[in-house]
Amino acid sequence: MRRKIAAGNWKMNAMQGDLAEASSIANHPADAIDVVLCPPATLLAQMSALPLGTGGQDCHANSAGAHTGDIAASQLRDAGASYTLTGHSERRTDHGETNAMINAKSVAAIDAGLIAIICIGETLSERENGSTLTIIDGQLAGSIPDCATALNTVIAYEPVWAIGTGKIPSTAQIGEVHDHIRAHLQNRFADGNDMRILYGGSVKASNAQEIFAIANVDGALVGGASLKAADFTPIMDALAKA
Ligand code: PGA
Repeated sequence: MRRKIAAGNWKMNAMQGDLAEASSIANHPADAIDVVLCPPATLLAQMSALPLGTGGQDCHANSAGAHTGDIAASQLRDAGASYTLTGHSERRTDHGETNAMINAKSVAAIDAGLIAIICIGETLSERENGSTLTIIDGQLAGSIPDCATALNTVIAYEPVWAIGTGKIPSTAQIGEVHDHIRAHLQNRFADGNDMRILYGGSVKASNAQEIFAIANVDGALVGGASLKAADFTPIMDALAKA
């Protein structure tokens, strides 16, 4: 059985005053699932004192050194994180991150003892020209390191066109991609059947139940609806019941 994950990505949002929301999320009963919040680095140490999992939003491929403005996986670990996102589409777009860079970052995360949540997903034009599964194949082959196991790696499928837009793929579209990812993981990794695959992109309380009923959806990576406990805890509840 794959233990389900409700993960929240706070992106470049939230101040000290917003830790109260994280505290409400952390104290919401959710024994049956793993709950993870990925806050900005400024809040990571404080949030890590709460009873929930925490993660970085990115890490550098090197373990330390002259990389102004970057953060090392070991520093995330030192601040209390047990996860980090790698390859989020906003990193791929804003910072030109390639599959090879994301692979190296994921290795650094795993070497530091973190669970890498490796993000993949097609753009709208790729979806429309029928190349979704080809793009996914390239991202899976390129971004997931050979050292990945079900214990150190989680995959997040996030169609770029669904992130922050309120647009959601159909359940059939989500199911097709998740099944495709599962087949890749099973072919490549001895424990590929145990690796968790999250869906992300405009998940909210009103669509969570339907998404969590899809085969091979082992949880969600949630952006906007993870910032407030009132929005995120119903998603946690839907996942716990799925
Ligand atoms: P969203 O973001 O839930 O706001 O669409 C998801 C993400 O970027 O991880």
